[in-house]
Amino acid sequence: MKLILLGPPGAGKGTQCKRIVERYGLVHLSSGDILRAERAAGTELGKKAQSFMDSGGLVPDDLIISMMAGAMTKAKGGYVLDGFPRTVVQAEGLEKALKKAGQTIDAVVDLQVDDAVISARMTGRRSCPKCGAVYHVENLKPKKAGQCDKNCGALVQREDDKLEVVANRLKTYHQQTAVVVGYYQKAGNPILRINADQPIDQVTKTVLEKLDSLKK
Ligand code: AP5
Repeated sequence: MKLILLGPPGAGKGTQCKRIVERYGLVHLSSGDILRAERAAGTELGKKAQSFMDSGGLVPDDLIISMMAGAMTKAKGGYVLDGFPRTVVQAEGLEKALKKAGQTIDAVVDLQVDDAVISARMTGRRSCPKCGAVYHVENLKPKKAGQCDKNCGALVQREDDKLEVVANRLKTYHQQTAVVVGYYQKAGNPILRINADQPIDQVTKTVLEKLDSLKK
């Protein structure tokens, strides 16, 4: 199965992807996680991406398309694309990469949440810099406050989860990314629209039920 997970920042894409990949044995390809790993490793790509990420803007399309096409080539079997494509140009770039690989997307999952809910989710998010696990100070608490459940050490707040950057990320989403769903609708791909303003387990239940019936 090859899936695209779309939705505004903080919609729960990463949280749901971890559960989807576990259930179906897929590879999780998150453009944000790959960029953060590039930054941590101090690569050229990471350095180029830094200022865009810190301000809540988008990293240039050409860099993202080649980065994700490379990641897709390495993934054996099925995968979930998380946070990519984020513009129509990226969707067209993905289309070319899929054609070249003889692959097609089985479904697009669109997590829908209002802006008002997003700010609280993002400012309360805490992440593990070592294993990538994601928690929330209210909605998904670690067993011990401030510490990763997998004994990695202290949790951190992402720089781009500060209130002023969150506002810009939402603006970027509405200006450049929201239209991507329409691109796939026009192309005739199955779109699974999910009300993601529900408790995490309920969102997972709805997503998995829809994916199960798609598989049948
Ligand atoms: P990226 O890391 O992709 O950020 P994003 O899309 O803004 O998404 P997030 O990771 O913030 O949120 P999420 O939807 O995964 O939510 P999560 O599950 O963590 O991108 C970062 C930056 O990189 C971008 O701003 C851009 O600069 C650059 N970039 C990345 N991809 C790019 C691309 N394709 N093109 C150009 N630039 C790109 O959940 C959030 C919090 O809410 C967590 O604490 C979680 O516990 C909680 N939560 C989740 N679900 C629920 C729920 N149902 N109820 C209550 N709480 C919940």
